[in-house]
Amino acid sequence: MSENLIAPSILSANFAKLGEEVDNILASGADIVHFDVMDNHYVPNLTIGPLVCEALRRHGVTAPIDVHLMVKPVDRIVPDFAKAGATYITFHPEGSEHIDRTLQLIQNEGCKSGLVFNPATPLSHLEYVMDKVDMILLMSVNPGFGGQSFIPATLDKLRQVRKMIDESGRDIRLEIDGGVKVDNICEIREAGADTFVAGSAIFGAANEADPHHYDSIIQAMRDELAKADI
Ligand code: DX5
Ligand code: ZN
Repeated sequence: MSENLIAPSILSANFAKLGEEVDNILASGADIVHFDVMDNHYVPNLTIGPLVCEALRRHGVTAPIDVHLMVKPVDRIVPDFAKAGATYITFHPEGSEHIDRTLQLIQNEGCKSGLVFNPATPLSHLEYVMDKVDMILLMSVNPGFGGQSFIPATLDKLRQVRKMIDESGRDIRLEIDGGVKVDNICEIREAGADTFVAGSAIFGAANEADPHHYDSIIQAMRDELAKADI
């Protein structure tokens, strides 16, 4: 299995000073910036788009940006995010009429592609496209909001996907998103995830008085990951 990557979700950051927030989480050891895009159509919330992704790049962010599209339709916005500097672009199969085409579009635009599965979405969508995904993202909450509780059935689903990835022999990241905390990240790792999105757990630890306030929460997650029996 590949190295563990911690991907703070900026959904829970202070948007009034987003550049500084992203600088701080990266300085505290985060690996990837998880960027939640919601359209008030596929999910009942509205967040940020390509302009904000581009603004982070112009601000000087060089870390991978992991764009999680919770939008329908998907294809129209893909080239905009590629131009804006997205590294990964992942989408929900329910958001695209032609999943294979969308995966190809993302890769042709020079980005890494991924499919996202809601808690009740079956894995069958993966069957014919394992050669076109760089990442598989399992939602452990229903998409739309930060701060929800981890749905335990996702652990079994993680084990299934880990097996599929290992059997494929491909280099595919397995990401988990929703309700990830210090106290459950170890069992999530043991179930097969290697990329860990955490929004409220990380940004909820903000302490304006301390410039290194995210160090301890990210370190606590790494310490827990190191305990995983795999
Ligand atoms: C939910 C988003 C998540 C969210 C996770 O639709 O995809 O990335 O920010 O937030 P927490 O970690 O608070 O569950
Ligand atoms: Zn997300």
